[in-house]
Amino acid sequence: MTQRRILVTAALPYANGHIHLGHLVEYIQTDIWVRFQKLRGHKCVFICADDTHGTAIMIRARQEGRSEEALIADMRDAHICDFAGFDIEFDNYGSTNSETNRELCHEIWAALRNDGYVTEQSVTQLYDPKAGTFLADRFVKGTCPKCQAENQYGDNCEKCGSTYSPADLINPTSTLSGATPELRSANHLFVSIEKLHEFLEQWTQSGEHLQIEVANYLKGHFLGEPLRDWDVSRPAPYFGFEISDSPGNFWYVWFDAPIGYMASTMEWCRKQGENFDDWWREDKSQISNLKSQTSDLKSEISNLKSEIHHFIGKDITYFHTLFWPAMLKASGFKLPTKVHIHGFLTVGGEKMSKSKGTFVQAATYLKHLDPAYLRYYYASKLGPRLDDLDLSLDEFVDKANKQLVGGVVNIASRTAKFLGGKSLCETYPADGGLFLFAAAAHESIAEAYERCDYQTVIRTCKELCDRANAYLDERAPWTLAKQPDKAEEVRQICSVGLNLFRQIVVYLAPVLPRLAQQAGELLGAPISRWEDAQSPLTGTPIANFQHMLKRVELKQVQNMIEDSKPVELLTWVEQGDVPVPAVQSTDGPEALEKEPLVADLCSIDDFTKIDLRVARVVSAAHVEGADKLLQLTLNLGGELRRNVFAGIKSAYTPEQLVDRLVIVVANLAPRKMRFGVSEGMVCAAGGGGQEIFLLSPDCGAVPGQRVH
Ligand code: 2FM
Ligand code: ZN
Repeated sequence: MTQRRILVTAALPYANGHIHLGHLVEYIQTDIWVRFQKLRGHKCVFICADDTHGTAIMIRARQEGRSEEALIADMRDAHICDFAGFDIEFDNYGSTNSETNRELCHEIWAALRNDGYVTEQSVTQLYDPKAGTFLADRFVKGTCPKCQAENQYGDNCEKCGSTYSPADLINPTSTLSGATPELRSANHLFVSIEKLHEFLEQWTQSGEHLQIEVANYLKGHFLGEPLRDWDVSRPAPYFGFEISDSPGNFWYVWFDAPIGYMASTMEWCRKQGENFDDWWREDKSQISNLKSQTSDLKSEISNLKSEIHHFIGKDITYFHTLFWPAMLKASGFKLPTKVHIHGFLTVGGEKMSKSKGTFVQAATYLKHLDPAYLRYYYASKLGPRLDDLDLSLDEFVDKANKQLVGGVVNIASRTAKFLGGKSLCETYPADGGLFLFAAAAHESIAEAYERCDYQTVIRTCKELCDRANAYLDERAPWTLAKQPDKAEEVRQICSVGLNLFRQIVVYLAPVLPRLAQQAGELLGAPISRWEDAQSPLTGTPIANFQHMLKRVELKQVQNMIEDSKPVELLTWVEQGDVPVPAVQSTDGPEALEKEPLVADLCSIDDFTKIDLRVARVVSAAHVEGADKLLQLTLNLGGELRRNVFAGIKSAYTPEQLVDRLVIVVANLAPRKMRFGVSEGMVCAAGGGGQEIFLLSPDCGAVPGQRVH
């Protein structure tokens, strides 16, 4: 088999938010595909990066009182940690805010300029005079010009569905400052992709670069008329790269984001001693068309050729199937071999919802559940088309328990315990053709993986599991094991069972890498190649059986949902003219009785000696050897960080703290502790144990503000 060279990318997540279960559909789908290619022996490189530029990040950093660089550095750490928690293994994880990316942007820009693709046009946009920035559509709200519905976003009305320009909104307001925006004009730079219309027509409609429904969608919606020029610049202030030949203007985030695929590849190439051009430069030799080459030479040259596969969600189809190929073509880079597009995640048939607790962050999931359940569940629902994927929580529990634990893992747990400390039979016993049957399934399973039809992979593996379990039910080694004279028979049955288990785990290894690792350790032979499913293992020593994966309790899932609901301190309801708390207060005397007012009176001067500040928890961690402490890194605005050891472990987990605002005594003398120096104290109410309640400011406060 010729070894393919495959470069795979998943969409770069924005650096202004955490990874959630919706994102994970794509990262799990892509990771499975990459692991499959690697298991098949191909050279496959999985590239990703944080997408760091744009107005949203600039505004968030401003609101948090720190630099964009500080914000994106923290988010990067959080993303990397979430991905690792789900066994998503990138070969390189870069950032669009890197020098490498800046240089590549300049190179591509120069090529576009030189070939006459760039034009300058005046654009009139809403401008927030208070915040001093142009407003992206999502930062403007007002009354819909069509149906008069209030509180609608700048570009479309959620009530009547119409789309319009933010300048048409009635009574527009900036959501950043509350100011009334003004109309202002500025010159923007545009790329004329219409010049590449013919090429895009041909590229999208032939050569299997796209799923057929995507090709048809592009033909029906865009390619039937001239393609609109693409606005690729934004005037200052903007967090991004300044355009060298247009000072005061910055590349729009969507210009430099896909170039981030290349920049991250380039970083990987530097680390690996690989040649970037082999992966991204246009292949001039067109070797596949040369009829005259000998087949040996052809296959040698084709080893040097590489494929590029992008995995994305359907919402960013236009960018990846029209703009991106146009940019690559115009600047002489290699075009994608295929753009694989998937649908969205729904939960219980509905859009993910914060108030219902179905907008679950990756870190929250991992607090309650094993990543293998989600990898398996998503795989069982993912097909080669663009359908949305629904996460039904009951079905999730059912599949994890019945198929994964009760089906796959069960084969090992009901056989390995009889062979622990012994070894598999020296000769593979007769099994009625079960092993050969499963071995023969490898081709159809591989084809299904290749076309991202993981549903079929899982269905086929489930059938193989059913056969293996039926074999064991019939032979019942657990009954025979009670009869000393049946020891050899038990060994033979279990040798068959464990080999069938291994075969299935090889096929599922891209989906369940941890299970594959555990199976390798149990059976004394690591699973590292697709061919491992073709010949039975014999004579290897079997380790003592360790539990591989527990059953899921519905309660765990419910807890995860509860944990994902926003914490409402009080819900106010209207009663006549006066709002009152929805939950009537039951303020009893107990707390005060426990700790009566005892402190001496103090003057305002005494109080102002204590410098209380708003701070954000940037990171939180357990402290080795400390029962009560958590170590917090606090941001007090700008670049000012503090390390604080807080005795709140009995009431909070580190995950609950990251990103929240707290009040800190900022001028408390540093205290040397066994674990390090504590540089402040976070304020909390309550008597200790589970009854510790951190203080937070109201919404709108930012790190660094003083508490008066
Ligand atoms: O839609 C998004 O989340 C973007 N951050 C994806 C960028 S993908 C690529 F083009 F960089
Ligand atoms: Zn409307």
